[in-house]
Amino acid sequence: MLIVKNIAECRREREKLGRVAFVPTMGALHAGHLSLMALARRHAPKVAVSIFVNPTQFGPKEDYTKYPRPVESDLEKCEQAGVDMVFMPPPEEMYAPGMAELVVDLPQLSSVLEGKHRPGHFRGVCQVVAKLFNIVTPNVAFFGQKDFQQLRILTAMVEALNLPIEVIPGPTVRDPDGLAMSSRNQYLSPTERERALAINRGLFLAAGEFKEGVRQANRLVTTVQHVLLEQHLSIDYVASVDPITLKHADQVNGPTVLAVAARVGNTRLIDNVVVG
Ligand code: PAJ
Repeated sequence: MLIVKNIAECRREREKLGRVAFVPTMGALHAGHLSLMALARRHAPKVAVSIFVNPTQFGPKEDYTKYPRPVESDLEKCEQAGVDMVFMPPPEEMYAPGMAELVVDLPQLSSVLEGKHRPGHFRGVCQVVAKLFNIVTPNVAFFGQKDFQQLRILTAMVEALNLPIEVIPGPTVRDPDGLAMSSRNQYLSPTERERALAINRGLFLAAGEFKEGVRQANRLVTTVQHVLLEQHLSIDYVASVDPITLKHADQVNGPTVLAVAARVGNTRLIDNVVVG
């Protein structure tokens, strides 16, 4: 497995690879990331992974400095997953001092849900992924449905910029108790982790009500809210939205995303299910 740390070397090595499937990550790899790598292997003979904790997508009061960076074990996991090339640039390589600021934004999609609660977050995500796409020039790229708004925005970015890259979603991987895997789960104390389960329980309870015939999205949202409040989680939002426009959905007529962002102690978690 090749490990490259600068852009010029990444380009040189990429040249030799032919068709490439790409999984961008911020490291602290877990089974969710590994499932994207396994999916990537089915779509191209060579798999590239980036590990880069992108400073521009963190807010000033967010966890950029304390975000976990277990480099050695991440590289072992990539190796075991059969990854061909890992690109792990230092921050100065991606954001050279003095480089003019670049804004890539899809305001209709980035101003709602996560974007409303984390101003500038998706600008940072689009900025870094556009740069990574230009450096790695993959044929196909993989993003998890756990971050469904990010997946939607990056799919729209590829369309809007006419990039010759196919974006493929991977399903949310959960721990056996149902909690969606996240690098941030390691911040949770054992009792917080128990309380965090309200997020997936609430979402699956609502999905069950949908299966039993409930079509009013507000009723499903209320169900989720109740479960979260029982565990005293602090709710940023519980929303029902169209998966393409991300606009509020009143009725579940077609595919509808029930999305949650909530804080357990100091840890902010997101999750979603698709109904319809
Ligand atoms: P990160 O949080 O490391 O996630 C990398 C990829 O793994 C994303 O596509 C994310 O949706 C996916 N992922 C995370 N948890 C998952 C789970 N439980 N099941 C399935 N997929 C999961 O998302 C980012 O990094 C960054 O914003 C990035 C796109 C790399 C840009 O910096």
